[in-house]
Amino acid sequence: MPFLRFRRGAGAALVFSLIFSLAAGLVVQAAPSIKDQIKSRQDKLRDMGGALKAIDDELKKRNQDWDNVILPNAQTLKDRSAYLLNWFPKGTGPESGVKTYALPPVWQKGDDFTKLGKAMQAEVAKLAQVASGKDAGALKAQAFTLGKSCKACHDDYRSPDYEKENEE
Ligand code: HEC
Repeated sequence: MPFLRFRRGAGAALVFSLIFSLAAGLVVQAAPSIKDQIKSRQDKLRDMGGALKAIDDELKKRNQDWDNVILPNAQTLKDRSAYLLNWFPKGTGPESGVKTYALPPVWQKGDDFTKLGKAMQAEVAKLAQVASGKDAGALKAQAFTLGKSCKACHDDYRSPDYEKENEE
């Protein structure tokens, strides 16, 4: 019966298009927006800044709380920094129109950016190792070295507006 065949075909097409739009909807939902990606990386970078500052502040004290302050913050730095190089997918620069301090060279000089990111990760690993030795003098020196490795990247890849707009 041609009529039934037609209906079956139309039904299948309807089911297909339903499934397709459902799947497309899921894909759209699953992909984080550029805005979310930039916000999330800034939040995580702020965590790293806060962790390093907490360590620096603790080292200024007469006695250090290693277990509650220094070690957990060293761990935060280690956890976060391991992913830093994944936080800058193409399209998440200033050309997106979203407010970001990341400068275009992040994507134009990717090799150098990656090198600086890895250098910082190596200093973070050293910091965590030194921290476990609970020697304040040694940790001060390593925190300073780590700070320089953060700055080395910020000098070229983060807009100086950041310092102007945020008191450090
Ligand atoms: C390989 C490059 C690179 C390294 C290494 C690096 N950063 Fe950054 N950082 C950036 C870039 C790029 C931005 C701007 C991100 C944005 O605005 O989207 C940034 C932003 C920041 C911000 C500002 C976040 C905000 O918007 O409030 C802080 C804080 C920060 N970084 C801390 C650190 C610390 C601490 C280290 C070292 C432990 C570090 N960064 C190492 C590239 C780097």
